[in-house]
Amino acid sequence: RKKKKKPIRVYMDGCFDMMHYGHCNALRQARALGDQLVVGVVSDDEIIANKGPPVTPVHERMIMVNAVKWVDEVISDAPYAITEDFMKKLFDEYNIDYIIHGDDPCVLPDGTDAYALAKKAGRYKQIKRTEGVSSTDIVGRMLLCTRERSISDSHNQSSLQRQFSHGHSQKFEDGGSGSGTRVSHFLPTSRRIVQFSNGKGPGQDARIIYIDGAFDLFHAGHVEILKLARALGDFLLVGIHNDQIVSSKRGAHRPIMNLHERSLSVLACQYVDEVIIGAPWEVSKDMGKRGYTGDERRSLSPPPFLLFFFSMMILNGLSSSCYLVLNLVYSPSGLCFPEGSRPQTAL
Ligand code: CTP
Repeated sequence: RKKKKKPIRVYMDGCFDMMHYGHCNALRQARALGDQLVVGVVSDDEIIANKGPPVTPVHERMIMVNAVKWVDEVISDAPYAITEDFMKKLFDEYNIDYIIHGDDPCVLPDGTDAYALAKKAGRYKQIKRTEGVSSTDIVGRMLLCTRERSISDSHNQSSLQRQFSHGHSQKFEDGGSGSGTRVSHFLPTSRRIVQFSNGKGPGQDARIIYIDGAFDLFHAGHVEILKLARALGDFLLVGIHNDQIVSSKRGAHRPIMNLHERSLSVLACQYVDEVIIGAPWEVSKDMGKRGYTGDERRSLSPPPFLLFFFSMMILNGLSSSCYLVLNLVYSPSGLCFPEGSRPQTAL
């Protein structure tokens, strides 16, 4: 009888601060190099010692990494560098076959390579870093938009823009929405969308749940609400509003991440089955006809526990950088949309 092959277990570590789709793409590539992906989230203390304080604390970074659909296990207090002891622990306790990192150099304060030992042991593999996004770039975009609001000095603005866009700046025209300057070097390709997609539609009798929003700067609050929404049915469809809608509702300085970037972050979340890239503000009958139709129409307002959850999110400040309008629709045989106006549970 054929012996069952041992799964290949790979390890990737990182800070995953202000988690973005570049991180998700790294995790996707790492997972593809093996059968099971174990992720080490570097502790706050280790990040402080090696590159300065993180923006998001470890418990939020843990929520974000755990939510990514390519992640199998998470270690919460990983060291910044692969030490002799930690490498032994990875091999002996976690049965890791390969240690993986992006192709950018990861240098310690003393100038040495954080992965030198793994490379020496012949257990190191590399993935391609995603162009066009980084935590520094996102902070830059945020600074630019606050600056835009407070100062209308075009000279200062363009010098800031240069600083955070690595030499060449770009103005995003988004259909005359009056939206300000946004710096993004991300090129949305159909291949990337496919790589992030599940490629599976809802089953015959699936109960489809619909939730829409901006999902700008995808964070732990978004993950929690998507988890709750997914638990209400069998298939979670997420509508992502286009940049014009977000700008018109939240001000010209928003969104920070453009429609395609926001779509990738949502798609990488394990609770999401499908996204509508550029969902309308009004959830209409017509929209149901075009995509997810069901014969029986039944709509519900957000259940009380979700409203309670929203209030908690506001109190906790988790939703400070987002808004989310919940529009849950149930149907035993497909998605149905209520006609006309939406429940205004705006955060
Ligand atoms: N990574 C990537 N593409 C990016 C950003 C990060 O592939 N645009 C990869 C890194 O190479 C690393 C993993 O994601 O393997 C975790 O990255 P992290 O430790 O958070 O560090 P940074 O490289 O500093 O990410 P950022 O600059 O965005 O903070």
